[in-house]
Amino acid sequence: MKNVAIVGSQWGDEGKGKIVDWLSSEADVVVRFQGGHNAGHTLVIDGVTYKLRLLPSGIVRKDKVSIIGNGVVVDPWALLDEINEIKLKGVEVNQKNLIVSEAANLILPFHREMDEIREDAAGKAKIGTTRRGIGPAYEDKVGRRSIRVMDLISEKNLDHRLETVLMHHNAIRKGLGKEIYKKDKLKENLLSIAPEILKYSQPVWKKIDEFKSQGKKILFEGAQGILLDVDHGTYPFVTSSNTVASAAATGSGCGTNSINYVLGITKAYTTRVGEGPFPTELKDEIGEKLGTVGKEFGTVTSRKRRCGWFDGVLVRQTIKISGIDGIALTKLDVLDQLSEIKMCIAYEVDGKKMDYLPAAVNDQLKAKPIYKTFKGWNCSTKGIKKFQDLPENAKNYIKELEKFIQTKVASISTSPERNDTILIVDPFKS
Ligand code: GDP
Ligand code: IMO
Ligand code: MG
Repeated sequence: MKNVAIVGSQWGDEGKGKIVDWLSSEADVVVRFQGGHNAGHTLVIDGVTYKLRLLPSGIVRKDKVSIIGNGVVVDPWALLDEINEIKLKGVEVNQKNLIVSEAANLILPFHREMDEIREDAAGKAKIGTTRRGIGPAYEDKVGRRSIRVMDLISEKNLDHRLETVLMHHNAIRKGLGKEIYKKDKLKENLLSIAPEILKYSQPVWKKIDEFKSQGKKILFEGAQGILLDVDHGTYPFVTSSNTVASAAATGSGCGTNSINYVLGITKAYTTRVGEGPFPTELKDEIGEKLGTVGKEFGTVTSRKRRCGWFDGVLVRQTIKISGIDGIALTKLDVLDQLSEIKMCIAYEVDGKKMDYLPAAVNDQLKAKPIYKTFKGWNCSTKGIKKFQDLPENAKNYIKELEKFIQTKVASISTSPERNDTILIVDPFKS
């Protein structure tokens, strides 16, 4: 029996949603384990587009169970909006196919406000967050003052929890000259939606244990990417959760031995939304072209994504950090019309050659990429479903990439559509 964890190996938006949806035909259960509605996962099924933020990408398939684990930060209003939106597209969401961890921490309106206040005050030093309140909510979780799904059960308990968390927030708000956040209206609003949220609430660790003993296959769906991990990413330009595969165990309540294969979703070039170092960024017409052909606009904030060449050094690094067994190479078709394609194989920092990205942001900003150049293939790969049908130069690029990152290319995606995917290694069977 195999369970698979899917993580992004770059700065997010690698195409995790598409691959999770494609692979979930084989899974019984799909689990989100970190992040929140900062994620935007796009699925395209027979021409219909679904943009998921909090709901696991398995939700669109009948007879699959979708789980939001304890490691996810949940904005209850955003969750209810998303459920309503997807229901309007004809997808069923009920207590049988959606489970939300009773221990998941809530994102509340004052978290969103704090995210905005800080970003606005930071000026040039801003992180470029999604302004969804993700950072402040995780801070409250670790600060042990957070409100969790289970706290919605009792009015008395909720009152006490709100008192505690607002004491902290209001001290900061006062210091920043912002108005005090009042408890009563928020409590009333939360109590009015509580039954809608609580109906999905269960002990997720127990459900996963039951599914495991029934021999069900579980797919863990990561959000963001390893370079946005709070420990291993380009700190401080990161998100506030661990995005590495082992977070699937903590964020859902099962041991790391429940994860048998880690698939790293990897774009055939690189993108980043928000601020922070990006050694292979292209601020020229090739970068513009990648953005236009790849439709590189944020799913959540509609911001233009920064684009650049594939960074083999970074992906080789994140593969090691996250224990990635194989990669799913996505958006190969976006490179179709380029006569030359470059891959970063080392950096030069202060005149010294380096084979990894240094940890300090100031050194990262100085890293100059050293490239290997490949011939393009100048023809369409869109919709190709067999490796042998790819143009020779594309096969060569993929083989060289595979050799450089020292990891198997397990699948290749050639369009946004669910089935336009080349299967090389089935992670559930390998
Ligand atoms: P995620 O956050 O990792 O799930 O990725 P996003 O959904 O935010 O961004 C990936 C974008 O690329 C989406 O618009 C997908 O529909 C699209 N996409 C995924 N795979 C491919 C592919 O192989 N080719 C092309 N052209 N687009 C793809
Ligand atoms: P998916 O799951 C790309 C980025 C933000 C910002 C930084 C911190 O769709 O790949 P946050 O709001 O999390 O505090 O912002 O992280 N970011 C993402 N970038 N894809 C995502 O998710 C992201 N989620 C957060 O742009 O730079
Ligand atoms: Mg995304």
